[in-house]
Amino acid sequence: MLLTLLSMFVVVFAQDAPKFKYTGVKKCKMCHSKAKKGKIYELWQERRHSKAYATLATDHSKEIAKKAGIEGDPQQAKECLSCHTTAYNVPADQKLPTLTLEEGVSCEACHGPGSKYKSMKVMKGLFAGTMKAEDYGLIEPDKAVCEKCHNSNSPTFKELKFEEAFKKIAHPVPAKQ
Ligand code: HEC
Ligand code: HEC
Ligand code: HEC
Ligand code: HEC
Repeated sequence: MLLTLLSMFVVVFAQDAPKFKYTGVKKCKMCHSKAKKGKIYELWQERRHSKAYATLATDHSKEIAKKAGIEGDPQQAKECLSCHTTAYNVPADQKLPTLTLEEGVSCEACHGPGSKYKSMKVMKGLFAGTMKAEDYGLIEPDKAVCEKCHNSNSPTFKELKFEEAFKKIAHPVPAKQ
């Protein structure tokens, strides 16, 4: 009985207070944009993922939406936003107001919600391997993460060859001198 009550409490508590929240790309930019840090933010900005929401405003997108039987503006259609933005289908209480649709497919779409891992101490510990990614909500992205969006539900689907595709979005941290 006590155990049942206790587990009910844990479940309710877990639902009330999500452990990890999406914070948006501006938080990541603070620390990941200097040259000696690999200019990861700038690399992302130059590439398609950062334009994924903007893409939905083009005439081409409107045509694609129309063919798929979607009425109205693709930038407001959940059928498109689910893959062209970050954490679209995640419940609202797991998203901070700093996460925007405009940032498209940003860091946390692949790396997971950053509220707990984005502190300097945790980031350094994770990078050094002295802390465990899952304790802080960090995902080490593999092919399966890409395939959450790169799949045949995409109206323009082209099969993703992971090695090749990853080269196009690579963003290594430079080795220390
Ligand atoms: C307070 C500064 C800071 C913020 C904010 C920050 N990071 Fe980091 N992050 C670091 C540092 C420092 C490292 C270690 C590598 C380096 O020196 O660049 C790191 C490493 C990482 C790693 C590699 C971890 C590993 O296990 O190898 C990932 C992935 C990462 N950050 C993603 C993010 C994302 C996504 C955000 C935004 C949600 C973010 N970071 C915000 C400072 C930060
Ligand atoms: C299942 C995830 C997913 C959904 C749903 C989705 N997209 Fe995409 N979209 C992608 C991916 C991934 C790409 C990158 C290329 C590819 O594999 O299609 C892409 C690329 C695009 C492109 C650029 C490529 C091109 O051929 O011009 C446009 C435009 C586009 N999508 C429009 C839309 C519209 C409009 C909708 C809603 C009707 C939509 N997408 C729904 C995942 C998705
Ligand atoms: C499309 C998915 C995707 C996006 C978007 C993305 N990353 Fe990554 N990131 C990866 C993958 C995949 C790896 C490689 C994981 C590995 O090394 O096992 C990686 C690795 C990293 C690393 C470690 C690099 C190293 O040399 O060890 C850091 C730091 C990082 N990402 C930060 C970021 C930041 C900051 C952003 C946003 C500005 C971002 N990532 C956006 C998929 C992504
Ligand atoms: C949240 C959904 C999402 C995830 C997760 C995701 N992508 Fe994408 N990706 C897209 C969308 C949407 C586009 C098209 C953006 C546009 O053109 O506006 C795209 C485009 C790309 C492109 C550019 C296509 C081209 O022809 O230039 C590459 C490369 C790519 N993704 C690789 C990856 C890899 C590798 C991963 C996993 C590590 C990944 N993506 C994870 C949604 C996603």
